[in-house]
Amino acid sequence: MVTYDQFLKEILIDEATLQKRVSELGAEISRDYAGTDNLLLICILKGGVMFLTDLMRRLTVPHEIDFLAVSSYGKGARESTGNVRIDMDLTAQVIGKHVLIVEDIIDSGHTLRFVMDVLLARKPASLKLCTLLDKPARRTIDIPIDYTGFQIEDKFVFGYGLDLDEKFRNLPFVGVVDLDKLNGLPV
Ligand code: IMP
Ligand code: MG
Repeated sequence: MVTYDQFLKEILIDEATLQKRVSELGAEISRDYAGTDNLLLICILKGGVMFLTDLMRRLTVPHEIDFLAVSSYGKGARESTGNVRIDMDLTAQVIGKHVLIVEDIIDSGHTLRFVMDVLLARKPASLKLCTLLDKPARRTIDIPIDYTGFQIEDKFVFGYGLDLDEKFRNLPFVGVVDLDKLNGLPV
């Protein structure tokens, strides 16, 4: 059986550090949206799911949640392209709501540019973006980020919602993938 420690290079952000930052973000978002009664959190599946469920527990403002699944196709599984498509759409109405996107990581920016354009076309009252991780060195499209958990270097990471070929999203920490070891394993 394949286990995560076979290709974990190092733990980049441990559980306590993640939880502390998520509660800081929750407090900041709660302050910024205080008095708002139509906040809609939109989680980008699947990577954003762990972050969403922890973040929403920290919010003191009433809010709805919904899920949007997108994927990019073209290149390899670990690199996104400009070809992004919706795999599963929202059920909530966006028009007139204060929308906050909850994402795991912003890499090239292609995915978020697509998501923001789709949501803007549905006429929200406002649209903001909250990402757990930001890899600025990889950006090819400029994306305005309102809330960032951590800026990280250009390393491939997994855990806390992020997958390694669809697995290990359940890990309570963010780890760096050892690509040399990964390439020798049948994941
Ligand atoms: P972008 O379109 O290049 O910004 O890619 C964003 C998407 O790629 C994220 O939502 C993730 O699903 C995935 N991604 C980017 N970097 C990583 C990583 O280091 N680990 C796991 N998934 C990643
Ligand atoms: Mg992914």
